Amino acid sequence: MASSSNLIKVKTTLPQLPFLPNADRKPIQTERLIIRALAQDDLHALHQLRTQPEVMIFTRTGRIDGDLSETQARLDKFLPPTGDIETYNMAVCLAATGEMVGIGGVHNPGACSDEFGWPEIGYQFNREHWGRGYATEFMRAFLESWWAIPRAEAEIEVDLHTVPAGYLLENGGRVPEMLVAVVDAVNMGSSRILQKTGFECYREWKEPDSRAGFEGQDVALVEYAFSSKGMKLDVQ
Ligand SMILES: CC(C)(COP(=O)(O)OP(=O)(O)OC[C@H]1O[C@@H](n2cnc3c(N)ncnc32)[C@H](O)[C@@H]1OP(=O)(O)O)[C@@H](O)C(=O)NCCC(=O)NCCS
Repeated sequence: MASSSNLIKVKTTLPQLPFLPNADRKPIQTERLIIRALAQDDLHALHQLRTQPEVMIFTRTGRIDGDLSETQARLDKFLPPTGDIETYNMAVCLAATGEMVGIGGVHNPGACSDEFGWPEIGYQFNREHWGRGYATEFMRAFLESWWAIPRAEAEIEVDLHTVPAGYLLENGGRVPEMLVAVVDAVNMGSSRILQKTGFECYREWKEPDSRAGFEGQDVALVEYAFSSKGMKLDVQ
């Protein structure tokens, strides 16, 4: 999805990098899930997830992985020696069986290079496990873990729509840190998860659809943000 945003420079915080390497990350246990670091052994489970059309339709390309090597390239982004310490993406497994049912996390915590500036969260769950509340359960635990990471001061360029008018002037150029999510307007399940876990919808727009099979069409997108300090956003 191409950027449709205008950027503005702000003072804020971001997670202190590098993240703990996968080997040192403690799994998070919830009522029904174990949320843990990804590992090479997850390749086949990840491939299964990334070859489900209903799951991949909501990615930027909109298509399933062509072969195992494509999934391996994706997995490598989250594995040592550098992927793990630069990203915060997890495997979501059933506590009862260990089966991996989804993945989720933040893959751009350096933020500045991303189209909206802020760290962006994403998640995908196996079709067979939808509708059981697993994504919501994952998100609640993930958010607690995300905001517990030590912070560092940062000066970055962010989507100006995430900064209410007048806020910068009143606060010396500082804004509370945000975590954002961009959702296809038809993806009601994902929007619902974000609303239930404290994200605010603040902008909707249309842009040319980048997905295979949707050439020449527009896609309607919704951007949500979670403010670390409860700052209220202007709805566009
Ligand atoms: C979106 C996704 C993660 C949801 O996973 P899940 O485990 O089924 O989610 P949960 O069961 O925790 O919650 C889904 C919520 O959305 C609601 N929901 C689902 N489909 C809906 C629809 N079509 N209309 C309205 N609400 C809907 C559910 O009722 C539930 O809300 P509730 O608990 O208040 O009843 C999963 O469908 C998925 O992986 N989709 C493909 C990838 C994707 O879309 N990722 C997000 C990209 S931004």
